[in-house]
Amino acid sequence: MELRVLPVEASQKKPIPTDDAKLGFGRVFSDHMFQMEYSTAKGWHNARIEPYHELSLDPACTVLHYGQEAFEGLKAYRGDQDGIFLFRHRDNLRRMNASCRRLVMPEIDIDFVSDALKKLVLLDRDWIPRSPGCALYIRPNIIGVDPFLGVKPAESFIFYIIVGPVGAYYPEGFNPVSIWVSDRYVRAVRGGIGEAKTGGNYAASLLAQKEAKQKGFSQVLWLDAIHRKYIEEVGTMNIFFMFDDEVATSPLDGSILPGITRDSVIQILRKWGVPVVERKFSIDEVISAQKSGALKEVFGTGTAAIISPVATIHYQGHNYTVADGKTGPLSQRLYDFLLDIQYGRKPDPFGWVERID
Ligand code: COI
Repeated sequence: MELRVLPVEASQKKPIPTDDAKLGFGRVFSDHMFQMEYSTAKGWHNARIEPYHELSLDPACTVLHYGQEAFEGLKAYRGDQDGIFLFRHRDNLRRMNASCRRLVMPEIDIDFVSDALKKLVLLDRDWIPRSPGCALYIRPNIIGVDPFLGVKPAESFIFYIIVGPVGAYYPEGFNPVSIWVSDRYVRAVRGGIGEAKTGGNYAASLLAQKEAKQKGFSQVLWLDAIHRKYIEEVGTMNIFFMFDDEVATSPLDGSILPGITRDSVIQILRKWGVPVVERKFSIDEVISAQKSGALKEVFGTGTAAIISPVATIHYQGHNYTVADGKTGPLSQRLYDFLLDIQYGRKPDPFGWVERID
């Protein structure tokens, strides 16, 4: 398939934000986007990079009624000497295809989309912020667009990628966040769509998220939907607990998102010789470890959140402070290491980082 590039006129270019400290997350988008369409007859076709634009959709289309969609989140980093770096981006595209299979949507060609994504990032490279911790967030999205109200998989789709400069996901930045354990609502159950990166999982999380915010907490920590006791994940990240010298995170058993930062952290810890296990553990185990002093650190991992230390866990009316409520040494070391390799500042022993310019 041919990729057409239709650049925006110089006079139509939008102003690029100049104050990285005010970027926040997900509010500003660049001058261009990638788009292509799918039909049963033609497969994926009409691939182009063109000026950022609104989508025109039939009000009956599948995604608006039945949520048939999947998305990804990844970043491009501007390193020293202005080099532009991507981190494991093909793994994001592979995960997108896994989400597409679960949501009965056509898979994308990873080589083709990887190439288009790099061209888009380079065309809008002036939008990649320079400040530490800031990056160009890349959001691929696929939506079902059949104008039909019957419940069945769509036969026509739009795939697009938008990009925009971002700072820290949480207003706290890298400072520790507080999380609220939901024992009332659940996010996903095994056999459902919890392991797909699809809007429905986020829709299911909104009410609990709103209640947590009202109580002064940043995020919700989800427990498993059946026993309501095993730790699953946090709203926008996977989560790790350090019990004495061992780090534990929940296994990928179908209801949690297979995070790429999660997998990276497991591999980094193994390389460093830090014991790390994927196992089921309950909120009761976490609370009793906190009480005995065995709970040394808690941190979330995600593309948007990077490494996000947790200071406080709220469960059933009680606040539990993790260690001294400050960022722990392991969280700090992981954060520094990940950023160093993502920005091309230090050699990447894993082969995850690709310089694209
Ligand atoms: C990410 O970490 O990139 C995510 O997609 C999480 C979120 C902002 C939905």
